Amino acid sequence: MRVFIGIDIPDSIKDEIEKRVISKLKNKLDNARFVKKDSLHLTLKFIGEVSDDKLEKIKSSLKGITFSPFKVFLSEIGFFPDKKRPRVMWIGVKDGVEEMRRIFIEIEERLSKFVEKEKREFSPHLTIARFKERKIVELNIPDFSAEFEVREFILFKSILLPDGAKYEKISSFVASY
Ligand code: 2AM
Repeated sequence: MRVFIGIDIPDSIKDEIEKRVISKLKNKLDNARFVKKDSLHLTLKFIGEVSDDKLEKIKSSLKGITFSPFKVFLSEIGFFPDKKRPRVMWIGVKDGVEEMRRIFIEIEERLSKFVEKEKREFSPHLTIARFKERKIVELNIPDFSAEFEVREFILFKSILLPDGAKYEKISSFVASY
């Protein structure tokens, strides 16, 4: 099964993103595929295909990670690599980056014996669209910001479907106070 570790965001913020960003841009950007509201999330670590046996090892390794609840402030819409040849449209993470990085580093260490390390630099973002055709984005992009408290991170199963991925929660790992 294909899995990754991430942070779910509150339904109220998913609704706001859908209402204030996605629905405003959807009809104007026909070269992008927008993430379905329920699938919006923050990725901590992408893992990929794993066997059932490996999945059990991943779960028990993640159980040992301790962290305190922390705030994430989402703000500003941006593009990877840039607006001229966009591949991904995202909402930025302003507060909470260091806390997320600490969890990411712990995940990397604890899974290092059986999961490949991430080669790219850790750069937290909330993907809202992926571009099918990479052409310059010329329209006005709305402002967006929201804040929430992170109290758990999640091991997600990713199911690839023709109209985009669907994610299911396998396990959650809760903050200790
Ligand atoms: P993205 O949002 O930047 O596309 C679940 O698929 C999550 O894991 C996505 O949010 C995606 O990040 C990330 N992801 C998917 N495939 C990946 C890969 N091959 N390497 C790193 N991250 C990946």
